[in-house]
Amino acid sequence: MPPAQPREREFELTDQDFTYFRDLVGQHTGITLGEHKRQLVYGRLSRRLRELRLTSFGDYCQYVETHADTELTEVINAITTNLTSFFREQHHFEHLATAALPEIQARNTRSRRLRIWSAGCSTGEEPYSIAMTVAETFPNHKHWDTRILATDIDSQVIACGQKGVYPDERIKDISPERARRWFLRGTGANANKVRVSPRLQELIAFRQLNLMGGWPMRGPFDVIFCRNVVIYFDKPTQRKLFDRYADLLAPEGYLYVGHSESLNGTSERFELIGRTIYKRIA
Ligand SMILES: C[S@@+](CC[C@H](N)C(=O)[O-])C[C@H]1O[C@@H](n2cnc3c(N)ncnc32)[C@H](O)[C@@H]1O
Repeated sequence: MPPAQPREREFELTDQDFTYFRDLVGQHTGITLGEHKRQLVYGRLSRRLRELRLTSFGDYCQYVETHADTELTEVINAITTNLTSFFREQHHFEHLATAALPEIQARNTRSRRLRIWSAGCSTGEEPYSIAMTVAETFPNHKHWDTRILATDIDSQVIACGQKGVYPDERIKDISPERARRWFLRGTGANANKVRVSPRLQELIAFRQLNLMGGWPMRGPFDVIFCRNVVIYFDKPTQRKLFDRYADLLAPEGYLYVGHSESLNGTSERFELIGRTIYKRIA
């Protein structure tokens, strides 16, 4: 039984409407919207109804149908959860600095090529944290072919990452030395903002990419970060995705997943070598 709807709601969200959005989002993004996500769907999409001056979710379903080219993006941007922070799950960056990067340097001496993918990068804090780690612990990266690819399905977060401007409170947990080295403080109207150093920006390519669609990049990647993304997908979708990551990773390449995620039972092509750290079996 769906939970009873509170009486004084601004818009009615019928079972049919909810099923429409659940199927639409599921098909396009892999995100599973269970019955418990009804409130989330209501909350995230009502803003759009107000903007369009629509009076019911039924009307909005019709609007999405007739304006699919543009409106699907609005629905997806609204439904995705983009929570992130600089150096979130710090132990991955320690592992990158002390284990992965030294191994890759030893392995790729001929090609002098380093490829890292932040898949589901949200507003950019994750790829910038990767770039800081690379720049701080692998000074020779400038003489290597070094690229960090940062992708997300949500066009708004990609634009934000590309811009590299954040409220200064976002870097409050970063050491003062790091903050001085990698962030420029805004002045005047931008007094409470920081801008990421162009030296980090030039290492990163931000691209909109749906993990459920085709991937134009050839790889191989030395490291893939896919953290706090697959938690929204069902197991068969996770299995397919991990398989595709294994295909694109270099042998013995690393995959970092989020704190509540695991490949347990979803892939035999990786071995667990640390807390939420997997290595592709060569
Ligand atoms: C909670 S954020 C995680 C951000 C970052 N990886 C971290 O751990 O801090 C999840 C991100 O996955 C993205 N995402 C969800 N489904 C996706 C899909 N099918 N393709 C690409 N990105 C997706 C969302 O847009 C969102 O920005």
